[in-house]
Formats: sequence, C-alpha cells, structure tokens
Amino acid sequence: MEIIDSPRAMTAWSDRTRAAGRTICLVPTMGFLHDGHLALMRRAREMAGKVVVSLFVNPMQFGPAEDLARYPRAFERDAELVGAEGVAVLFAPTAEEMYPAGFQTRVVVSGLTDTLCGLSRPGHFDGVTTVVAKLFHLVKPHLAVFGQKDFQQLAIIKKMVIDLNWDVGIIAHPIVRERDGLAMSSRNSYLEPAERRKALCLYNSLQLGRKMVAGGERDGHRVREEVQQYIVSCGDVDIDYVAVVDAETLADCRTINDRSLLALAVKIGRTRLIDNTLLAG
Ligand code: PAJ
Repeated sequence: MEIIDSPRAMTAWSDRTRAAGRTICLVPTMGFLHDGHLALMRRAREMAGKVVVSLFVNPMQFGPAEDLARYPRAFERDAELVGAEGVAVLFAPTAEEMYPAGFQTRVVVSGLTDTLCGLSRPGHFDGVTTVVAKLFHLVKPHLAVFGQKDFQQLAIIKKMVIDLNWDVGIIAHPIVRERDGLAMSSRNSYLEPAERRKALCLYNSLQLGRKMVAGGERDGHRVREEVQQYIVSCGDVDIDYVAVVDAETLADCRTINDRSLLALAVKIGRTRLIDNTLLAG
C-alpha cells in the first residue's frame, strides 16, 4: 500500500490509474478506524480494482465548541489496518495542504442541511461537502462508499453529486454495530464505562420504534413520542433530537412507510452520539 500525503501526488496517481483503465473507489474517513470503516473498505474492494482510503480530520466540519482538538488519532495503527484490507492508497493530507492560507470556497447544499444534525451543528455539513468535493477532485473516484450511520451526511452527499452532475457513484453501506447493538463510532472511545452502558439506550430505543411499527403502529409522531420518553426514562442523557423522517428528503414523516427513518442524536456526558434505523422492513 502506498501512503500519499500530497494532493498533487494523489492526483497524479489517480490520472495514471484511470489511464490504465482501472476503477477507483474512495472511502473517506477521519481515522481512528473501527470495524465499521473496515466494512466500507471491504465493500469498496468488491466494487473496484483500486481502493483509496482518505484519512483527514477535517477542521472545517467542527464547530468552535466541538471536539477537533481531542478527536482521537492513531495514524500508525490506522495505516496498519488499512494496509491489511488490500487498499491501494492511503491518502492522508495535512490541513495546511487541504486549506492553504487564503482558502475561501465553500460547497453548500441547502435544505437538507437545515434540519436534524444541521440545527445543532451549524456549518458542519458545509465543511463535510467542501472536503468531500475536494477529495472527489483529488482522487477522481468512479465510486465512493459512505456509511448509513451518518444518514444525513449520506443524503446530502447524494444530493451534491446529483445537483453538480458529478460522475461518482455513491454506495451506501449499512450500519456496523458492536455485539450489544451500539453503532460503532470513533467517538465511542470517549465513553467512560458507565456512559458506555448508558449509550445502549440509543439502540434499545430504535428497537422499540421498530417493534411499534412491526406491531402495526403507523403514526410517525406517536413513534417519536414513545421513543423520546423511553430515552428520557434512561436518565442522565441529553436528547438533541428524536425524529421520524423520510430517508431521502429528511422531511417529517407523519405516516410510516418503507422509507421512514427513525433518527436520533443524544448526548451522554460530553459525547454526542447518533444512530438511526429504517422503521419498516
Ligand atoms: P468518519 O466519522 O470517520 O466516518 C467515515 C465513514 O465511515 C462515513 O461514511 C461514516 O458514515 C462511516 N461509518 C462510521 N461509523 C460507521 C458504522 N458504525 N457503520 C457503518 N459506517 C460507518 O464521516 C466522516 O468521517 C466525515 O464526515 C467524512 C465523510 C470523512 C468527511 O470528513
């Protein structure tokens, strides 16, 4: 596996690889890799001859009061994990190279960014779309894999690609969970043991929502209310949102259908966790 840190060298590699007729699949990450990230890489291997994994903790997507400084980092370990997945290139640029002095451009998707995580993290998705746009230009992938754990991010990136006529196929990968159901996340490493136990209320609440719908409930608001009550009853947690929305438009969903998604963001101690599930099927 090649480790490339310069954007120019990355583009040169991609030009050569495309000229040789190979398909490139990109898996963007912020590192501190877990099995969820590795599942995305395996999916990418199945889809394309050459896989590029990017590792970049993108300062633009963190708010001033967020965890950029303490975001977990483990480059050597990450490089080993990526190397073992048959990945062709690990692209790990510096912030100075991605955002040189005088950088002034933002790629902004409106509408989809004005709800859910966008409300409590203003500017976050502009940072995501800007960096993903830069990564797409530098790596020139035919395909890119994103996790459904960040379902709003996925919906926004799909929209960006459609609206900008970008010739990149977006592949969605299902959420990878710990044995007890907690969605894997680099931020789980922040959790103290008691918080880790409490964090299970996210998964349990999603299961409750699914059970209601399996039992015939079709009122999206009733599902949201009960799920919210359950999370409150777990105590010592701070709900950012509980929502039942259309998986594509993210619009509030009054009547459950097969595109209805139950999504939530909850703070356990200082750690903000997100999770979601489709309600039917
Ligand atoms: P990061 O949080 O490192 O996640 C990288 C990719 O892994 C994203 O597509 C995310 O949805 C996926 N992922 C994370 N946990 C997962 C899980 N438990 N199951 C399935 N997929 C999972 O998301 C980002 O980084 C950044 O915003 C990025 C897109 C790299 C732009 O900076």
